[in-house]
Amino acid sequence: MTTSINLSKGPLGNKLHIWAPADGRLRPISNRKIHEIPEVFLRFFALKSTTANHHLTPNCATYFLTGPKPIVFLFGLMIVGHPAAAQPVYLDPGQRVEARVADLLGRMTLDEKIGQITQVERDAIRVNIKDIKSLGIGSVLSGGGQYPQPNTAAAWADMVDTFQQVALSSRLKIPLIYGVDAVHGHGSLKRAVIFPHNIGLGAANDEALVRRIGRVTALETKATGVHWNFAPMIGLPQDYRWGRTYEGYGERTDLVARLGSAYLQGLQTVDGHGLEHPWTVLGTPKHYIGDGAAKWGTSPFGSDHIDRGQAKFGEQELRTVYLPPYRAAVTNGARSIMVSFSSWGGLKMHEQRYLLTDVLKAELGFSGFLVSDWGALDELKGSTVDNVSRAINAGLDMIMVPTMYQDFVSDLKSAIKNEMIPQTRIDDAVRRILRVKFEMGLFERPLTDRSLQAKIGMQAHRDLAAEAAGKSLVALKNANATLPLDPKTATIYVAGRAADNLGMQCGGWTLEWQGTDGNHRPGTTILDGLKRSVAVTTKLEYSAGGDFRGKEKAALGIAVVGEMPYAEWHGDRADLNLSDADKQLIRRLRERSAKLLVILISGRPLVVSDELALADAFVAAWLPGSEGQGVTDVLFGKHPFQGRLPYTWPRSMQYFARIDLGEPQTAETVLFPYGFQEQVAR
Ligand code: BGC
Ligand code: BGC
Repeated sequence: MTTSINLSKGPLGNKLHIWAPADGRLRPISNRKIHEIPEVFLRFFALKSTTANHHLTPNCATYFLTGPKPIVFLFGLMIVGHPAAAQPVYLDPGQRVEARVADLLGRMTLDEKIGQITQVERDAIRVNIKDIKSLGIGSVLSGGGQYPQPNTAAAWADMVDTFQQVALSSRLKIPLIYGVDAVHGHGSLKRAVIFPHNIGLGAANDEALVRRIGRVTALETKATGVHWNFAPMIGLPQDYRWGRTYEGYGERTDLVARLGSAYLQGLQTVDGHGLEHPWTVLGTPKHYIGDGAAKWGTSPFGSDHIDRGQAKFGEQELRTVYLPPYRAAVTNGARSIMVSFSSWGGLKMHEQRYLLTDVLKAELGFSGFLVSDWGALDELKGSTVDNVSRAINAGLDMIMVPTMYQDFVSDLKSAIKNEMIPQTRIDDAVRRILRVKFEMGLFERPLTDRSLQAKIGMQAHRDLAAEAAGKSLVALKNANATLPLDPKTATIYVAGRAADNLGMQCGGWTLEWQGTDGNHRPGTTILDGLKRSVAVTTKLEYSAGGDFRGKEKAALGIAVVGEMPYAEWHGDRADLNLSDADKQLIRRLRERSAKLLVILISGRPLVVSDELALADAFVAAWLPGSEGQGVTDVLFGKHPFQGRLPYTWPRSMQYFARIDLGEPQTAETVLFPYGFQEQVAR
């Protein structure tokens, strides 16, 4: 009797086939520990054939067993492996996604299901990495600022792949999915290109541009092994005292729906291919629902905050203003959505079964999975077991725990054991998560394609970021034909800390969660861009503090002022007036310059009415990102001014007093309407 053993190396280890000539069929027997069979074992019992007569892939080797050897060999197999069984349907990429999901789900224990629902932050799991295997953890994330040392693409890939190898060593070899907030480029990676924050993209209002940005962000993110991006934010900030205003594209539904969907398409499609394409990442429209609708003072952080507060809309407004961007996102391929920290009608969004299950899943037909926000279950009012039941019963599928995952796993287990959560709900949650993992090709390509790393930070990507920064600029005033600037201007005084500060240009969610102050990454500052743009004859002087005392008047003064970086509730501000230091700096520069241009770097409209009156020209540059040259190219007329206000601009803090009273704005409270742009002739 002759039996042939065929060994093929796939991404999940070796697959073993036994070929029995009696029935002429190749029977896969890969299962359990079969992949651990050492090749030397095969060599001992069999002769390797290079001229196999059946369809073998290049990764296959065939071993022919003769005589009594097969019996010994098969006996050996039973010791090191599992008795012959068909290759599981779920490991066969030729099968339909739903068939693979059903097959895998049918093999999973309750503990393995709980693992899939659990998302852990990198620092918590790093020190107990084996827990990924023993608990079958389904997802790991880097929160803002959680990068490896050194912060290079290679170290990122090593980090993700190390976690992934542990996941792949688990019984069912279910790959994990790794997520980050690449909200304006892969912000946590040092060499990545940083695009303008969404507020600037809302001003540019260019869907094709946003789609290209999504594409490049996906590539730079995927190159580091990361599969999942918690973006785009598709809320509608109405009260700019909120520290997340810049994460939104603007205040209007249609703008946000169009740009959010374009960005999602950019992340998730390449040349007509979807998530199965290796250059894509999974996107996550967030935070469902009502971001930007909270009432000042209702925040869990206190009466001088708004973040995570109570949304004040009724159902009608919810459906017409806040829901359409999600409807558009689902139509355009959203496969994961993050739930909002805020509350509505006294309940946290994380426990709103009506909104999560009835509206989003049933009515809008969302068949992907819902992920919680960071530790959001801790903000619910009950016991931990109660809270997890409430959230999962409401429709949450994956929980960003993110640190106390052991407790979470045991809480979820007791909730299920005590029948507080039906088994069908658990199966549905896991089914949704696995479905997306299969759609993404994670089982076939769990590890990083490092060949993409050469593209990170490449010039074409920087050019795109520069183009976006330029297109996002909104001219608010242009008296005395100040703009476009004349490169031959004799003397230019540049003032303001923001002029030479990539950290300020980039804002929050860049390198660190709260952003940084100073030049800590590749890029060009606005000052760099100015220096490159002026003629050799121009005398350009820079003083961060704007101190030009005793100097003769310059033909042009440029003040670059604005906000220090912030993220989330750290950026909540009761007072949106420009800082006193910036006000004084502008006054000082006014005295020393024949013409004055003010460039505002900010994550939202600030109250600048007085400074606007003092300046000849005034430009809102938002948070333009790492390519300051893109800003100066437009200032000097290389490209036209295009941006329009994505948010109504308040004249004074009265604007917010009216919001608090629930009263409409008037001509006295509005300085510039939504969509405003001052014309700049070139
Ligand atoms: C934020 C999310 C973010 C998550 C992970 C949360 O605090 O609200 O927008 O995706 O952290 O960093
Ligand atoms: C994380 C952020 C997260 C925040 C929420 C931070 O420690 O780095 O990603 O959004 O916590 O509290």
